[in-house]
Amino acid sequence: MTRPFVSGRGVRAFARAFLPVLVLCLLLSPGLTPAAFAKPEAAPGSHPPAVLIVAFGTSVEAARVAYADVEKGVRAAFPGAEIRWAWTAHSLLAANNATPMPTAQEALARLAAEGAKDVAVLSLHVIPGSEYQDLRRTAEALEGLPKGLERIRLAPPLLHDADSLRAVAEKLLGIVPAGRGPEEAVLFVGHGSHHPAGVFYPALQYYLGALDANALVGAIESDPGFDAVLAALRARNATSVWLIPLMTVAGDHASNDLFGAEPESWRQRLEANGIRVHAVPRGLGEQPALVERWVAGLKQAE
Ligand code: CO
Repeated sequence: MTRPFVSGRGVRAFARAFLPVLVLCLLLSPGLTPAAFAKPEAAPGSHPPAVLIVAFGTSVEAARVAYADVEKGVRAAFPGAEIRWAWTAHSLLAANNATPMPTAQEALARLAAEGAKDVAVLSLHVIPGSEYQDLRRTAEALEGLPKGLERIRLAPPLLHDADSLRAVAEKLLGIVPAGRGPEEAVLFVGHGSHHPAGVFYPALQYYLGALDANALVGAIESDPGFDAVLAALRARNATSVWLIPLMTVAGDHASNDLFGAEPESWRQRLEANGIRVHAVPRGLGEQPALVERWVAGLKQAE
């Protein structure tokens, strides 16, 4: 009787020795990681990928043109995605009865209830201040809950690191109207913040000034404040300045604090100091070059 080439005992010994190795190899192979087991491909007919755009909000109806422009940019970059909106300004949510707007938390909960698994969140904030940090905490708290959203990817605000400061400085100079003369100053004024991230405004001044010595940054509620900006304009012997909001929408702050007819507005105070003002009352959301920066952040978050 000839011995079989592989005996039953031989197979069992082989299995005992190599099966654990085989299982380990399978688990470590890229397509079969534990994460891949946990996240099967979306079944046909399931919820489409969703993008939640989160803005501060505005009480000025006409300022919403900026939001419409942002949505157009997102739609072009994410064709087929379900686009939703949320506002972070609770005071505006309450006042906005005509077209009720959810908070980010409500919008994410709604998407989860509809069966969405994966949501990309675009923050239209300019700096990673308190509004943005609240949104980040909300996204972290709602990710991975049982029967909830498996993945919430949060894009960064417009300014968030040195590279973004450098790139945005360049884009900002690109949106200055062509009518600006070579000797005229240009001034970008943001909301300002007492959150530690408020330092992104003076930081932007550094990168902007490196590109254009007559380009300045100001902030309504923090540094660089009006007096510092006025001193910088005087040091440059500026007699004329292009005033541009460093805000997503040209809403209440732009129309009152920057361009208002009251003597406290930046425009009136500059003119009272002998500096002619060219008003550019458009939000950053109306500028395709800036929308492109936000959308790029959203793509990177994928
Ligand atoms: Co405000």
